[in-house]
Amino acid sequence: MLPVLTPKAGQPAATGRGDPGGAMVGTRVGPPAQRELDAQRELEAARELKLTCMSNLLATTEARVYFKDLQSRFLLISAGWIAAYAPGRDMAELIGKTDFDVFSDRHAAAAFADEQQVIRTGEPIVAKVERETYDGHAGGRAAGWVSTTKMPLRDARGHIIGTFGITRDVTARIRAEKGMVRQALKLRAQNERLRELDRLKDEFIGLVSHELRTPLVSVVGYVELLRDEGTDGPNADHFIEVIERGAQRLLRLVGDLLFLSRIQSEKVMAVEFRSADLVDICGYAVEEMRPEAQRKHIDLALTATAVPCFEADPTRIAQLLGNLIANALKFTPDGGRVEVRLGMEGDEAVLAVADNGIGIPAADRERIFERFFRTAAATQQVIPGTGLGLTITRAIVEAHNGTISVASEEGRGSTFTVRLPLRPLAAADAQLTPRRP
Ligand SMILES: Nc1ncnc2c1ncn2[C@@H]1O[C@H](COP(=O)(O)OP(=O)(O)O)[C@@H](O)[C@H]1O
Ligand SMILES: [Mg+2]
Repeated sequence: MLPVLTPKAGQPAATGRGDPGGAMVGTRVGPPAQRELDAQRELEAARELKLTCMSNLLATTEARVYFKDLQSRFLLISAGWIAAYAPGRDMAELIGKTDFDVFSDRHAAAAFADEQQVIRTGEPIVAKVERETYDGHAGGRAAGWVSTTKMPLRDARGHIIGTFGITRDVTARIRAEKGMVRQALKLRAQNERLRELDRLKDEFIGLVSHELRTPLVSVVGYVELLRDEGTDGPNADHFIEVIERGAQRLLRLVGDLLFLSRIQSEKVMAVEFRSADLVDICGYAVEEMRPEAQRKHIDLALTATAVPCFEADPTRIAQLLGNLIANALKFTPDGGRVEVRLGMEGDEAVLAVADNGIGIPAADRERIFERFFRTAAATQQVIPGTGLGLTITRAIVEAHNGTISVASEEGRGSTFTVRLPLRPLAAADAQLTPRRP
């Protein structure tokens, strides 16, 4: 209980502040004096009621409330204040003490400075939210957040006679707010990613339309030429060749698109594992690209050391090799050199496709494996492509539990290296391998 707050009826309040009426009791008794006495008693009762309300409030509230005099000595404190800062201590014992008897010097000095400022200026400090710096009695609990309001304490005539303050624990609110900010940042980042994807898709649609259009225009044009000249004209063979090349290119593009959309919607790549002979596959892949190499006067060479047959999908391996060789030829100027090397390191087959072409800027070396990504050089030099080849290539490598990496120097060339674990031949002919995300 609060002894200071429960004056006995008829006694002056414990503050001892002016009670001139008390001195008059018993000196003059008469109707006017009686009235004065009654008025005095009423006043007394009203004051006592206020103090009772106040002491009940302070004895029960969880809010941390204190009243201090001009020297920041405690006049009154609430149960919540004691529970938070001086658990187990007696309220009466704390009256007259200061923050220096409770808190660390640093904390007490800061509070004292704030209170002196309130007293000096008469201006309150309102709802100052701060990290709880005091943890003397926290018993290891995580430092929370508090909101503190400090006001000047004024007497009936308006003179400042001290300060009072209310501190509330706002840890939950601040944590929620911080959580919301984090959430908002996360959403914003997600939004950016979606926007970027959207932009890439738009760009991709433009690219695909262009890629479809170019060979189609040439097919249609050469069909017309062929019709004009007749199938036994002197250029007929050449026209047919161009038409076939255009048609093949279209087929490849549509194939890539379908392939990619399938591995993306199914999240697995259908891989048919069977005995694969890498030496053979490399030989075929290089011969398939030879006409294109000749067209560009590129020296296309294959060096292969024997690799034992192992479990792999020969069609997919041929596809990945075709992609890498096609890139090497595409991004190497006329007269360059492209080399396909096959060998073994430990229990891995190592396939490398090296060129001495335009190279890849360091900043792009990770990104070239992303869907639709093409380097600025590829776009600016109008080198045809969709930016899907390496995405597909990597998916194939991963379906074989292998890795792909690239070493490159701008203007000097690139080397793509694929490592495939030599999966021993097994009885099972075909199976599905989950694709890594
Ligand atoms: N051998 C290479 N030399 C230089 N740049 C390359 C090479 N291979 C790939 N790139 C870069 O990586 C990008 C992505 O390759 P890819 O996915 O095969 O798409 P595409 O061949 O349709 O452009 C290419 O556009 C190009 O910028
Ligand atoms: Mg490509």
